[in-house]
Amino acid sequence: MASVKFLVGSTYGNAQQVAEDASDQFADLGHLVKVISRPTIDDILASDTEVVIICSATIGEGEIPDSLLPFHSQLSDQFPLLSHIKYGVIALGDSSYDNFADGGRQMDELMTELKAVAVQDMLIIDACETPDPEEAVIEWMSLLHQKI
Ligand SMILES: Cc1cc2nc3c(=O)[nH]c(=O)nc-3n(C[C@H](O)[C@H](O)[C@H](O)COP(=O)(O)O)c2cc1C
Repeated sequence: MASVKFLVGSTYGNAQQVAEDASDQFADLGHLVKVISRPTIDDILASDTEVVIICSATIGEGEIPDSLLPFHSQLSDQFPLLSHIKYGVIALGDSSYDNFADGGRQMDELMTELKAVAVQDMLIIDACETPDPEEAVIEWMSLLHQKI
């Protein structure tokens, strides 16, 4: 059993819903879960943080949603070493936009720079291809469960 925090970047609710469904799945598997809709750096630096799942949509022209922006800015400014943290990213986007899924990609890049340990490759959900992402998320989370 691990302590797993879901950090959400959502404008219209899709990423929030994905995070809530994924956290329910993980709670059923016996993990200690917490969904944080407007995370700050304190949420990741807290001593109980083991695993974080960043669940981010993309807004504007390839931007991180407002709910996750303070978290990204604080991490970029303070640049803490996160080598003790395991993480995964679920990136929601729409491939009809130029900067497809850049919100999640930016978060993934920053976590890598901070030396956090990627448990597995980012899951990218394309609203054009996968209007109902539930099945893909369940599969990705099941794999992640086996690795933490
Ligand atoms: C105004 C607007 C701008 C968007 N810009 C992008 C973008 O630049 N790149 C991308 O991949 N998706 C973009 N999207 C698609 C959203 O990321 C996608 O619909 C996502 O599922 C929304 O998640 P949310 O409901 O959690 O905000 C945009 C959507 C809207 C409405």
